[in-house]
Amino acid sequence: MAPPKITVIGTGYLGATHAAAMAELGFDVLGLDVDPQKIALLERGEPPMFEPGLGDLLRAHALGVEGSTGRLRFTTSWEEVGEFGDVHFVCVNTPQKQGEYACDMSYVDRAFESLAPWLRRPALVVGKSTVPVGSAERLAERLVELAPAGAEVELAWNPEFLREGFAVRDTLHPDRIVVGVRGERAERRLREVYATPCAEGSPFVVTDFPTAELVKTAANSFLATKISFINAMAEVCEAAGGDVVKLAEAIGYDDRIGRKFLRAGIGFGGGCLPKDIRAFMARAGELGASEALTFLREVDSINMRRRAQMVELTRDAVGGTLLGKRVAVLGATFKPDSDDVRDSPALNVAGQLHLQGAQVTVYDPKGMENARALFPTLGYAASVQDAARGADVLLHLTEWPEFGELDPAAIGGTVARRHLLDGRNTLDPVPWRKEGWTFRALGRPTA
Ligand code: UGA
Repeated sequence: MAPPKITVIGTGYLGATHAAAMAELGFDVLGLDVDPQKIALLERGEPPMFEPGLGDLLRAHALGVEGSTGRLRFTTSWEEVGEFGDVHFVCVNTPQKQGEYACDMSYVDRAFESLAPWLRRPALVVGKSTVPVGSAERLAERLVELAPAGAEVELAWNPEFLREGFAVRDTLHPDRIVVGVRGERAERRLREVYATPCAEGSPFVVTDFPTAELVKTAANSFLATKISFINAMAEVCEAAGGDVVKLAEAIGYDDRIGRKFLRAGIGFGGGCLPKDIRAFMARAGELGASEALTFLREVDSINMRRRAQMVELTRDAVGGTLLGKRVAVLGATFKPDSDDVRDSPALNVAGQLHLQGAQVTVYDPKGMENARALFPTLGYAASVQDAARGADVLLHLTEWPEFGELDPAAIGGTVARRHLLDGRNTLDPVPWRKEGWTFRALGRPTA
């Protein structure tokens, strides 16, 4: 049997990476986006966002790039997608709804409504977006209603676990593949699509629809809980005079606990964890199971309190009032190796400081453009040195590797006062203190 032809609907962090990875695995791929500007970039092999390794993959396969395999094409036409594909991956985003916790399904719904009328022959539609449990069942019915091929069009749910910054690696070498299916035909198709990673040893977990949907939200809720747990310990360390970094190291040696995701700091952000735990709470409420997830409310509030604590630590460092004080902020993205500033704790702290009267100047290696678009009233500098010039305090809020290599003596020559606050607990206080800096960090009053 010929290998399936693949389409990918939505070319954001998830879709662009998935499309390029499918081409890398040897499939002919057609990507669709409703944004013609994104399509124009992708056709030239240019990623619409910063993601390590994605540019190389796009250039290796995009038809518009000389010398490429040409296996990867892009379009804005639903008709073309419907005609081309045997397997259609839906990768559009599901942000938080305006003014409520629930997830906004409008992009997913629109993708299904636009695609289905062009499905004239047997096909498998595979949802990858993070959705409230129960969506797959509803969408499967909608597909059969709308597709000319009727019941010959099947649905599967195949959540994505990629991390920004590692998206290419996570997609090509996933630590597990989860597929929610209703029949063997869909399972067989997906085993064909994922034959390479399966042969390399990625576990292939077959479930029903609701379990597949829940695996994704459960995984993100667990990660968020782990981060908020260590941040709660940071609060206790602050009250008791302990050091949360040492505490995390020590409990992390217990391999039932593990060291990963135990880094205390200004907490989690991004386009996934915060909105996923909220959407999960909202959905549990609809299902009459809200009590099961009340702890996530606490996870969320611990996370938000850490941002506020960073503001307080800053106020304290500059003598009790932020009015007119110059604050240099290192980092704007929600994590390093990404240009994503969605719900970024770093930018949120910078914004709060600005609103309380500080003069804030931000520097980030990759996130400047997105940060400026979201918070145009903050100051932006082209380098660490520029941001730090004349600063009363320096804040380390996203742990980009280049910030770990800063020379405390050199930076000390540009600031007005040698005050450094580490909001990510990744800097070594020793060399900074040696150069006369006051070094403080969340959860480490004694560090
Ligand atoms: C997260 C999950 O890790 C992925 O498995 C999932 O596929 C993805 O969401 C998604 O739903 O699409 P991502 O948002 O890229 O991935 O970022 P993470 O690496 O999980 O980091 C999230 C936030 O937690 C960041 O702001 C990071 O700084 C923070 N964090 C992480 C901590 O504060 N402490 C830690 O120890 C680890």
